[in-house]
Amino acid sequence: MSSRTPYIAANWKMHKTTREAAEFTDALLPRIAATRNDVVICPPFTALATVADRVGGSAVTVAAQNMHHEDAGAFTGEISAAMLDDLDVRAVVLGHSERRQLFGETDEILAPKVQAALRADLTPIFCIGESEGQRDAGETEAVLGAQLRGGLGGLDPAQLSEVIVAYEPVWAIGTGRTATAEQAQEACAYIRSVIGEMGGDAALVRILYGGSVKPGNAGELLALPDVDGALVGGASLDPDNFAAIVNAA
Ligand code: PGA
Repeated sequence: MSSRTPYIAANWKMHKTTREAAEFTDALLPRIAATRNDVVICPPFTALATVADRVGGSAVTVAAQNMHHEDAGAFTGEISAAMLDDLDVRAVVLGHSERRQLFGETDEILAPKVQAALRADLTPIFCIGESEGQRDAGETEAVLGAQLRGGLGGLDPAQLSEVIVAYEPVWAIGTGRTATAEQAQEACAYIRSVIGEMGGDAALVRILYGGSVKPGNAGELLALPDVDGALVGGASLDPDNFAAIVNAA
């Protein structure tokens, strides 16, 4: 068994008002009271303060789903790391495939965001993953390697182990199609090897799997040697389902 503490994150995407976020949090906490895992909720910006206020003293911390790399400035509609820190946010999802596909985020845009997050003591949850076409063309490792080097290449080796990497095959996100245990393990082991080649402490870095994780498949995925947690979308919107995933790790 690895010494890496399991990290289970709920990515709510553009779901839940403040009232719904409060209700979810109040329902979740008693269901995971015994957990020793790191449990993270990533609400929309508008519900960060609500969730952060309610989770104090529990195993749960709060993460944002995006941020800008500058500390402040004329960037209408954007949120900085300092603003997140002000709300007791501890981590930030960067480079989710929806940000890459729908909002044009590239590794060149993401690299300074990762650095800004680390400067502000926010843990970057850096998402990478191949499309179905790339997998079918045998390009999975090349894509993962390029995303890691493109997004994290500017970090010094000690900073690399502070990043959480989320492996999310694009074809498995929101589709109900989960990677097989073999595919998830193979990709996460490869990611760990690249972090090692980049000079990071590969044994320390936590690597999550994401893509249609649900109570019924979480146990098998989370037991894989190189999978240290999960980034959960759809199944994280319901407190019973998310608690079952947390408690499967
Ligand atoms: P999903 O989303 O669990 O709904 O597939 C995962 C994610 O996008 O992080």
